[in-house]
Formats: sequence, structure tokens, C-alpha cells
Amino acid sequence: MSQDKKPHVLVTGGAGYVGSHSAVALQNAGYTPVLVDNLQNSNMQAVRGIQKLCSQEVPFHTIDVRDATRLHALFQDFIEAGNPIRGILHFAAQKSVGESVNHPAMYASNNVGGLGTLLHVAREFEIRHIVFSSSCTVYGEPVHVPVDEGTPFQEAESPYGWTKQASERVLRDHAAAQNQERIALLRYFNPIGAHPSAIIGELPRGVPNNLVPFLTQAVAGVRDRLTVFGGDYPTPDGTCIRDYLHVMDLAEAHVAALQWCFAQKTASSVVRPFNLGTGKGASVLEVIKAFEHVTGEAVPYVMGERRSGDVVSIWANASRAREELGWTTKRSLETSLADAWKWQQTLKRE
Ligand code: UFG
Repeated sequence: MSQDKKPHVLVTGGAGYVGSHSAVALQNAGYTPVLVDNLQNSNMQAVRGIQKLCSQEVPFHTIDVRDATRLHALFQDFIEAGNPIRGILHFAAQKSVGESVNHPAMYASNNVGGLGTLLHVAREFEIRHIVFSSSCTVYGEPVHVPVDEGTPFQEAESPYGWTKQASERVLRDHAAAQNQERIALLRYFNPIGAHPSAIIGELPRGVPNNLVPFLTQAVAGVRDRLTVFGGDYPTPDGTCIRDYLHVMDLAEAHVAALQWCFAQKTASSVVRPFNLGTGKGASVLEVIKAFEHVTGEAVPYVMGERRSGDVVSIWANASRAREELGWTTKRSLETSLADAWKWQQTLKRE
């Protein structure tokens, strides 16, 4: 149990990619993160990295958020120690589109079931400040770009996408059933990179699905080459366009969102979605060129077939986050790629 008097914030999925970076950002902003993770898709290396970056013992508990009994005991322990949990950053979820197609029930259980259990226990302890990890996947193939928070959802493209749409709905219903809930729905675009120290980063298990981890592994020689999924899309260079943001910018957005939750004073509940992106799209070929430019390394790649389920182009209108959270991205695509490469080199040495 942590003895310090800084406000405690529960970080579910705290050993994961975005969770671990956000824990460090929370600590930098004067909070004490309380990490929980079931370690299904993460490991203690990230927890040790967080402790190192925070230069202090950060509480960690191996708990699955579907375990109401253990969550209950955790919240109770912090009350008894005189410094209760004040808010929650909820990351714990699975995020692989392809895996969700093969295991939809597992995704429903982990992502939607986990959220339901967490909210049920949070309600009992009157914890009302909640920041939720959503995704631009909720928009499906968008009707226009850039997408803003009012852009209508399309039919989810995968069971994973459905769990994010459903989770947002669960949070809205949870808030509507009570007063003074303050909930931020953070719709991430494409987080990439790693902490600049390269002490924490993304630890993909097996073959990465995402562009940047695959790209850095290909350059490092862990993979033969990167396949660019489709060069015949209706975009200027024929490859898909995404909005890539540095994971530390994303981490800092969670702190801003939590502070926004704490600042809400209305009697009724507030649920607010925020797009988190740079507001600029980059194509797959532009990412490759930017990587080569900033690292001086050649990316071995071939043009391949389209990957099923890929949206052609999506990037954020992130002006709401700027205006209401006071948050914008500070790190460029080049910095993000340089940090991703630095992290990959750390992994290679191990
Ligand atoms: N890509 C390649 N080769 C690869 C991997 C990816 O060309 O080996 C391309 C994809 O086709 C896509 C772009 O790189 O055009 C980005 O792909 P990612 O898999 O990195 O990211 P996505 O945009 O597909 O996925 C992200 C999140 C998902 C989320 C989805 C919603 O990782 O969790 O956005 O659009 F569901």
C-alpha cells in the first residue's frame, strides 16, 4: 500500500502500452497511479520501467477487472489507509482487430464485461471521475474526414470496434442513471513511439499487427520485410492515411482529461467524447519516408494486397481536446518514429 498523500488514481491495464506511459504522465503531474493488470497481454517489465521512471514504488496489483471481489477489496484498502482512489483511467482491454474476429465472445467479456464490473464496483465506492480508452474505430469507415466527435458512428467493422461502441454506450447509461458522474471518452487515433528514455514502450506479443512495430522489427532484422497493405487506394500515393500521435502526447491527454473530470461541477452527470490525434494524416509511404529520413535506416518493404477491414483515410479534428482540455500534440511524426526506433533497439539488445 502506498503511504504518500498524493491523490490516488486507479490505472487499469497499467502494464500495457498506453497505460504504462499514462501512469508515468500521471506521476509527473502529481498523482500516484495505482496499477492493476491481469498481465494477459503485458508483463512486469513495464511495471519495473514505470517504477524506474517514477523513482518510487508505484502500487501494482495483478487483478483482472472482471474480478469484483478483488477490486472491491482494493478500493476498501485505500479508504482504510486514509487516501481513497479518486479517479480511474480505464485501459484494460484487448485491442487486436483480427483476434476479435476469431474470438468475439472473449472480446465482449474482457472489454465490455470488464468495464461493467469496474463500473459496478466504482458506483459502490462513489468514484465518479472516469477516463475511458476509446478509439477512432467507433467511427467505422467515416462519412467525412477529418472526423469530429459529432461524426456519426457507422456499423462497427469488427467485434473489437463493437466493444468500443458498446462500452461508450455503457458509460453513457451508467452516467444517466446517476448524478455527478464525470466521464471522458478518449477516442485515440494511432498511437506510436515510446517514452524517450526507451525504458518503456510497446511490447507486442508475436507478429505485430500494427504498422510501426512491424516496420521497426523489419528494419532491425526481426522480420524479413514490411508489406504495405495496398497501393491502389484513392489517396495521393495510393496507400492508406492515418493520424499517428506520440504515445507520450496521448499519455498527457489522459492527465488533462482527468483534470477536466475533476473540474466539472454540475449536479447532473457529464459524458464527453474527445478525439485525440494530431489533426494531420500521413500515408503508409509517408511514414516509411519519415522513418528513413529521421533514422538514416532503409526500410525493407514491398507493396502487397489490401488488408481486409482497413479504412481508407481517417484523421482527427482534435479541436475539442485543444479548446476544452487545453491539450494538443507536441511531438512530431519524426520524433515519434525516432523514439519507436530507439525502443526497438533496446529490445534487440535484450
Ligand atoms: N499497415 C501496413 N502493413 C503492416 C501493418 C499495417 O501497410 O504490416 C498499414 C495498414 O494497412 C494501415 C496502416 O498501416 O493502413 C495502419 O495500420 P495499423 O494496423 O497500425 O493501425 P490501424 O489504423 O489499422 O488500427 C488502429 C488501431 C486499432 C483500431 C483501428 C481503427 O490499432 O486498434 O486503428 O481504425 F481498431
